[in-house]
Amino acid sequence: MDPIKAYLIEEDPAGAVRASFTTLTPAQLDPGDVVVRLRYASVNYKDALAATGKGRIIRRFPCVGGIDAVGTVVSSQSARFQPGDAVVVHSHGFGVSHHGGYATQARVPADWVNPIPAGLSALDAIAIGVAGYTAALAVDLMELNGVVPGRGRVLVNGATGGVATIAIDILAQRGHEVVAVTSKPAQAGYLKELGASEVIASSDLAAGTRPLEKAQWAAAVDSLGGEPLAQLTRTMDKDGVIASIGNAAGHELVTTVMPFILRGVRLIGVNSDNAPDLREHVWHRLSTDLRPRHLGRIAEVRPFEALPDVMESVIEGRNRGRNVIAVDPAL
Ligand SMILES: NC(=O)c1ccc[n+]([C@@H]2O[C@H](COP(=O)([O-])OP(=O)(O)OC[C@H]3O[C@@H](n4cnc5c(N)ncnc54)[C@H](OP(=O)(O)O)[C@@H]3O)[C@@H](O)[C@H]2O)c1
Repeated sequence: MDPIKAYLIEEDPAGAVRASFTTLTPAQLDPGDVVVRLRYASVNYKDALAATGKGRIIRRFPCVGGIDAVGTVVSSQSARFQPGDAVVVHSHGFGVSHHGGYATQARVPADWVNPIPAGLSALDAIAIGVAGYTAALAVDLMELNGVVPGRGRVLVNGATGGVATIAIDILAQRGHEVVAVTSKPAQAGYLKELGASEVIASSDLAAGTRPLEKAQWAAAVDSLGGEPLAQLTRTMDKDGVIASIGNAAGHELVTTVMPFILRGVRLIGVNSDNAPDLREHVWHRLSTDLRPRHLGRIAEVRPFEALPDVMESVIEGRNRGRNVIAVDPAL
């Protein structure tokens, strides 16, 4: 079998993290039921933290980075997959404690793999990736918690990010009034094209410190954590629902119980490490009623060699939308 081109993250004896392109043999892949020839991967915030060492993400060195990828099954010991199936791989230990998507091949447990649903191309599937999956899971969970169009405005923060751009697209196509909050107000036109009805600069968002401030939002998709999430708890409408997805602004949450006990605010956690049934359900919805309409505007495809540059732009906060990496242009 062909040698595998990979982007490997290593730790030196002094604890410094470095990543570089290398070649692996198939025997060096981690154990798993399904071997996939990979075509595309993507760069998520977590990937950039992992490969640059800016976050302690990697749980086993050396590790091929990349927490999501798509490709074609080469061989499978799972009855769920046959050679030739087009699949998407993401979450659990992929690219964190098990070699991930920045390689021309991966061997993974079957539970980390889903067929790409009919109606989505390989490029659509990676443009969605773990970010879009998590956005759709958040919408699914918000709906289970009574969030329906017409109930009020839905805030999406970190609006130019991967999770947020797809969340804006999905929520708008479901008929919600979406308010995008961004540190890049120059991207207002872009965010409106994706479906935001209003764009607010994060510096202009009112920042009160009382336990309860003016109620403004029926629901919110939070990629930031920290103070922006605390502020959300204070400003949700009665029975408002916050989907907590990320921690780009911080992992602490300093607030009071008042929003929860006086306004019935619900803070729901969103985690993409799901069992196969839920993964199947969310991917099916992504290809049908939650299908994003603007993937061509959201995702940009870059060559494998561009990976370090893309990581840098994500870390420096210059990112917009989804960064797709063509790991094997021959496919
Ligand atoms: N729970 C899960 O299973 C799961 C799955 C996927 C992702 N996540 C998490 O979700 C978050 C977003 O991921 P992503 O891949 O969408 O990241 P991303 O593409 O890098 O987007 C994050 C966005 O947040 C804003 N931002 C970045 N740094 C910030 C800072 N220091 N303070 C305030 N805002 C900042 C920026 O948007 P603006 O400039 O527009 O404000 C940026 O575009 C991350 O924390 C990630 O780890 C969690």
